[in-house]
Amino acid sequence: VTARSLPIGVFDSGVGGLTVVAALRERLPAESILYLGDTARLPYGTKSPETVLRYTRKNVDFLLARGIKAVVVACNTASALAVPHLAPALPLWGVIEAGAERAAAASGGRVGVIATESTIRSDAYAAALRRLRPELDVRSQACPLFVPLVEEGWTEDEIAEAVARRYLEPLLDAGIDTLVLGCTHYPLLRPVLERVVGPGVALVDSASAVAEQVARDLEAAGLRADGAPGAPRGELHAYVTDTAERFARLAHQILDGDLTFELVDVT
Ligand code: DGL
Repeated sequence: VTARSLPIGVFDSGVGGLTVVAALRERLPAESILYLGDTARLPYGTKSPETVLRYTRKNVDFLLARGIKAVVVACNTASALAVPHLAPALPLWGVIEAGAERAAAASGGRVGVIATESTIRSDAYAAALRRLRPELDVRSQACPLFVPLVEEGWTEDEIAEAVARRYLEPLLDAGIDTLVLGCTHYPLLRPVLERVVGPGVALVDSASAVAEQVARDLEAAGLRADGAPGAPRGELHAYVTDTAERFARLAHQILDGDLTFELVDVT
C-alpha cells in the first residue's frame, strides 16, 4: 500500500460533515474516505474550547489508527477551536482558512459570517479574514437554531425562512456583499438563504472551498490518489459514536447512494 492510495480521514460532530465529504467526492472522486461522526457527543457548537479540543484529539487519533494519509476537520466548530492547537503528524486541514480565503477573494469589502455560537465566539473566521484583507468589514452572527432546523428536515419551509430573516437582518442592514456559511449544516439551507439575502450577496461554502484546498495540497505533496480516467471511484466508510437512525435521513439528503454506519467507541 502506497501513501497515495490510503484514505483521507474526515470527522465532524455528527453527519452534517457529510456536506464536506460530498464536496471532496465531487472534487476528488478517486479518493477513499473514512468518515467519523461523533454523534454521541454532539453538538460541539455550544461547547467550550477545552472540551472541543479534547474531543478533536480523540477523533484524530481514532482515524490515525485506521491508516490514513491526511485529515480533514469538517466541523467548523472544531476547526475554529481546536485545529490551531494541534500538532499533526500528517497533512490536516480545518475548514476556516479555505472558507475565509474564498470569501476574501469574492468580497467587495463587507463580509458576513454565520456559524455556531462557539465558532462565532472564537472569532476564528473574522480573524482569518482580517489577516487576508485587513480592511474588510466583517459582521458575525451566531445562528443556533439552524442546526436543529436542518436536523428536523425543515430546510425548505416558511419557518426556516422566518428564522433566517431574523438572524440575517443585522448583516443585511450592515450591507454585506458576501456571506460565509460557517457550519457543516448550512449548505442544506442554501435555497432559503439565497432567497433571504437576494442576488446581491454571494454565498461562500467552506465545504467546497476546503475540497479545492485539499486537492491542491495533496497534489503538491505527491499524495493524490490515481484519478486517471476510468480509475475506480474511491470508497467511503462511515463510523459513528452513537446509533445513527436519527441522522440517516440527513445523510441521505446530503449523499446519494447507500451509506452504512459502523458504531465505534473513540474514548
Ligand atoms: N458540525 C458543527 C459545525 O460545523 C455543527 C453541529 C454542532 O454544533 O455540533 O460547527
